[in-house]
Amino acid sequence: MVLAKTRFNRLLFLSQRSPFTTTSTMTIATATAHFATRTLPAYNVELTFSSTLDDGAFSATGSDTQWIAECCKELRRNRCVGLPTETVYGLAANALDAEAVSAIYAAKARPSDNPLIVHVSSMRMLRALYYLPPASSGATPPFLGTANAGPEGAGAGLAEPVAVASAMADAEARDREQGGDGVWPEIPRAYHAVIRRFWPGPLTLVLPRPACVPLAVLGGHGDTVAFRFPAHPVARAAISACGLPLAAPSANASGRPSPTAAAHVMHDLSGRLPLIVDAGACDVGVESTVLDAYSATAHVDGELAPCILRPGGVTYEDLRALGGMWQRLRVYRRDFTSAALELAPTTPGMKYRHYAPTAPVHVFVPGPQSEAISARMQAQIDTLALKGVRKVGVVAVAVAAAAGDDVPAPAFVAPAGCELIVHCVGGARELAHSIFALLRELDEIEHVEAILVQGVVDANEGLAVMNRLTKAASHHVLC
Ligand code: TXA
Ligand code: MG
Repeated sequence: MVLAKTRFNRLLFLSQRSPFTTTSTMTIATATAHFATRTLPAYNVELTFSSTLDDGAFSATGSDTQWIAECCKELRRNRCVGLPTETVYGLAANALDAEAVSAIYAAKARPSDNPLIVHVSSMRMLRALYYLPPASSGATPPFLGTANAGPEGAGAGLAEPVAVASAMADAEARDREQGGDGVWPEIPRAYHAVIRRFWPGPLTLVLPRPACVPLAVLGGHGDTVAFRFPAHPVARAAISACGLPLAAPSANASGRPSPTAAAHVMHDLSGRLPLIVDAGACDVGVESTVLDAYSATAHVDGELAPCILRPGGVTYEDLRALGGMWQRLRVYRRDFTSAALELAPTTPGMKYRHYAPTAPVHVFVPGPQSEAISARMQAQIDTLALKGVRKVGVVAVAVAAAAGDDVPAPAFVAPAGCELIVHCVGGARELAHSIFALLRELDEIEHVEAILVQGVVDANEGLAVMNRLTKAASHHVLC
């Protein structure tokens, strides 16, 4: 696999972090070690993996390879590293160590009851987790999942502890004896087709909790863990190099727009982590789809009815196209709700303020006529100007996402005494790719007093971006 060299806009960020949202039912740890945060480039590097899914072993060539050893060193010391993924940048640390996980919550001031996604770089690594005992504090973490040599002899060329390897082989044999195919016997069958089709990629799966994953990763509650196998070669190589599954939320300060460039991570978390790896702008731009085809939430009358808990990089339409039971796929809050999920913070972005810049965001939900939406946006600009707002940021969409027809970018007129900063994107996919960076730019560089965003139809890539925008806009969603 070759690392695509993506263009990266180096942005200057000036504003201060906004206050974090708090509630009385959880804690927010803010005490964190201070670091002189370094950024290491990963532009000029070619990473080749030995297999698509089963093994994470890789080789690296090019001039930008220093980050590999440095990541490995920091992560095996249970420190946090800012890593690029194909969705957004993640704040990664050893998922097998409760203290390393606590450092993540502290660094981004994340509410302690909001569970984290655990990232793996191979099926071998994921499977091995089901045979490890609960981690004891201070123990040397195992080296898992690839035949790459571990640091300072940690891996010694072994993919996982011998007992774990033989337990995996036994489980395969047992599965075959019972009429199965012997493939990934630890992973619920319902997920196998999804994994073959969409991993590595922007899809997170709710799986049974392996005993070795500390409760801290789960936000202190529950018996499931959300796992993701990222496609970004830098993320995958970092996981393989340290031989550890990595817990990684988006690397923004809690409540802020997710980071899609290394500079966003530096802006929000400088001094709170030792290292950020810079591989340019993230491709997808919104986070992974969180999919549940395992827990009680994914069952209706005893029958499996999978659900999307958070729309993201893999679309509802993509998943339904798998056929069979995937025809019963539901989207949380669009197709069903659950009182239990509303109370629990497991479902992304439901309990806490999310994705929000300091300036209020107004999102315009499209009607049948694209002209109508720009007229509504212009009217809102005029109203804001009458109320004394002096600088407004606008994100406009040039293509009608539903029809795919070319539609000219809407033109807006600045009212007297009000400056307009207009950015235009070419459709739902481009809006998803750029929205977090644009929100940050308008807020942190341009210091606009309000941000107006032209919404897109909430289908295909539009579903995830409208989900993020309506949360960022809070009560300013205009239909
Ligand atoms: O694309 C992504 O998913 C990025 C990159 C870094 O991989 N990560 C990310 O993590 O978005 P975060 O922490 O910002 O969002 C993870 C969400 C949480 O809000 C949580 O609600 C949900 O995943 N989650 C975690 N564990 C879960 C579980 N066991 N069941 C249901 N939802 C879970
Ligand atoms: Mg996040």
